Amino acid sequence: MKNDRNAPLGSAGKLRIAIQKSGRLYEDSISLLKECGIDLRNVKDRLKTESDNFPLEVFFLRDDDIPQYVEDGVADVGIVGLNILNEKCKEAEIVEELGFGKCRLALAINKSEEYVANYLQGKRIATSYPVLLQKYLNENKIAAEIHEISGSVEIAPGIGLAEVICDLVSSGSTLFMNGLKEVETILESQAVLIRNKELNEEQLKWVDKLLFRIRSVKKAKRNKYILLNAPNEQLSKIFELLPGMKSPTVLPLAEEGWSSVHSVLSEDEFWEKIEQLKAAGAQGILVVPIEKMIV
Ligand code: PRP
Ligand code: ZN
Repeated sequence: MKNDRNAPLGSAGKLRIAIQKSGRLYEDSISLLKECGIDLRNVKDRLKTESDNFPLEVFFLRDDDIPQYVEDGVADVGIVGLNILNEKCKEAEIVEELGFGKCRLALAINKSEEYVANYLQGKRIATSYPVLLQKYLNENKIAAEIHEISGSVEIAPGIGLAEVICDLVSSGSTLFMNGLKEVETILESQAVLIRNKELNEEQLKWVDKLLFRIRSVKKAKRNKYILLNAPNEQLSKIFELLPGMKSPTVLPLAEEGWSSVHSVLSEDEFWEKIEQLKAAGAQGILVVPIEKMIV
């Protein structure tokens, strides 16, 4: 089924998004939509569902199929791992990196093996990612044999199918449990929002609205709201540490000579700043999560 370009928003008048039906990206994809204020009707064990408060229809698909569905325009947008997108080489545009589902495609060998120079030459490598692996081998001028298997790649060395595996690593526990160690990274991956390349104006408008919400959620997660009390003579020092979105909010405390300062702090510099604020005389520091952040 090809996308009907004349229909303003798919056949049901809604933007159609494909997400993984189960697996590593499922929960986070659903949570992201929820955090974007998009309510979904029954998501459990469904092929598709829709939202009543945003013109969105959600298709639950195997992650491997999502790039194809988006290329064909059966879905307008999709959430998929960069690993799958790059492996499938489909025509879809990356709209945004979503910051979850972080993992890497890596080579691993038996942990008792020594990983010496040219180790990979002539070896058998088991993988579900033949395209990305072949590209890596070509770029590094390695002649190795690729054995494509569709799952449980980590058991290949144990059963004598291959000496090396090329598989996704997230926590590393799968490798550990199978007595393997990581030796090379082929691709750093995370979930991305992709879109069909030929969306019409109406569809693009809704992709933009979705993207605006996603960015507000992402930004909010990277920042914290901070409230503290400080003696007035220390305020200028504290303002320097807390520039805020525009500038910090300052309210007088009931106690003479003291103020309450409210501002926003990025997570990356959080602990360092807290120490500096304390050293500058801040007291009663409260830190609160931010739900959405629009700047
Ligand atoms: C991947 C990969 C490993 C595991 C690694 O499988 O194939 O088995 O995750 O994760 P870890 O480093 O946290 O142990 P995934 O869960 O994506 O399932 P799939 O292979 O069936 O797609
Ligand atoms: Zn998969």
